[in-house]
Amino acid sequence: MRPILGIESSCDETAAAVLDGDGRVLADSVASQEAAHAPYGGVVPEIAARAHLALLPDLVRGVMARAGLGFEALGGVAASAGPGLIGGLIVGSQVAKGIALAHGIPYVAVNHLEAHALTARLPGLIEGGAPFPYLLLLVSGGHCQCVAVEGVGRHARLGGTVDDAAGEAFDKVAKLLGLGWPGGPALETLAARGDPARHDFPRPMLGRSGCDFSFSGLKTAVAQTVARLGEGALPASVAADIAASFQRAVAEVLADRAAHAMAMMRARSQEARLLVVAGGVAANGAVRAALRQAAEGAGFTLLAPPVRLCTDNAVMVAWTGIEHLRLGLADGLDFAPRPRWPLEGGEMPR
Ligand code: KG4
Ligand code: ZN
Repeated sequence: MRPILGIESSCDETAAAVLDGDGRVLADSVASQEAAHAPYGGVVPEIAARAHLALLPDLVRGVMARAGLGFEALGGVAASAGPGLIGGLIVGSQVAKGIALAHGIPYVAVNHLEAHALTARLPGLIEGGAPFPYLLLLVSGGHCQCVAVEGVGRHARLGGTVDDAAGEAFDKVAKLLGLGWPGGPALETLAARGDPARHDFPRPMLGRSGCDFSFSGLKTAVAQTVARLGEGALPASVAADIAASFQRAVAEVLADRAAHAMAMMRARSQEARLLVVAGGVAANGAVRAALRQAAEGAGFTLLAPPVRLCTDNAVMVAWTGIEHLRLGLADGLDFAPRPRWPLEGGEMPR
């Protein structure tokens, strides 16, 4: 297969990547819009859409130049078409469709969640690529779910959050501690200096059957503690203890939910042996350690891809394009981006 261009624009990362037909990365570029959204404490959809429009053309030209390719050398172009913020999805989809139309090459409308799921099969992460079926735990700012990945376009959602996503909980607690946005990395740094046993925060859903998540009660408990100890004027050591205790609670909950999900996965398929973690929260050391332990306890192996492949990127989008095109699955240029596009049940809607 000829090289594939991938485009990601579903949230606040603008990204483009070129992979050769075997999935080797020829060029990869991510432009974060963090600074543009930080003053608002979260992603502002209209700002994101305009930023994608401003950034994407040069980003695409840049990866093509670094890959040493002209557009005529491409075998296809893939773009995230959902779920996500509609403005950004339209920008990325239209750029991809324009290139496909102008050069007569196939276009693939990629489900962003499937792209996270299929990252585990990129060459170089596991000898021969992760074999189906495997369990995906996706923990990002916008998503928190357990997915049985059984094939290309074949997924079953085993459970997910009933309120906040895990990354959202990190961001909200970081905000309470005055750490800015997005707060996950800063919270982890602060937690390293704190005592994780100092506060006994609730562990929502711990031990509950199934693998749903809930974080709003934990966030509320942290807010109450912050208010009690003096909001805004917390001494650094007090804030560090809160951060460490919160982080431990999240790690324990994620490990417990993942353990339940692994049992559910095993019940679906005896060969399932792999727990893949993706999303920004997968960058967290305490979370990774807890998940590794849970995986070992269940007879699974944890695969935590490098952080740049866990967070939003275009390598995973291009790779999903390759997986689809290998099966002859391309999409029409009339494919409408889908702000909501769940990975539920057997076949993905196409
Ligand atoms: O996957 P991602 O880059 O973007 C999407 O949400 O799609 O995930 C970003 C989320 C944010 O909520 C951020 O605070 C969280 O991942 N995050 C972390 C860490 N790094 C990023 N949370 C905890 N610890 C970290 N080291
Ligand atoms: Zn994502």
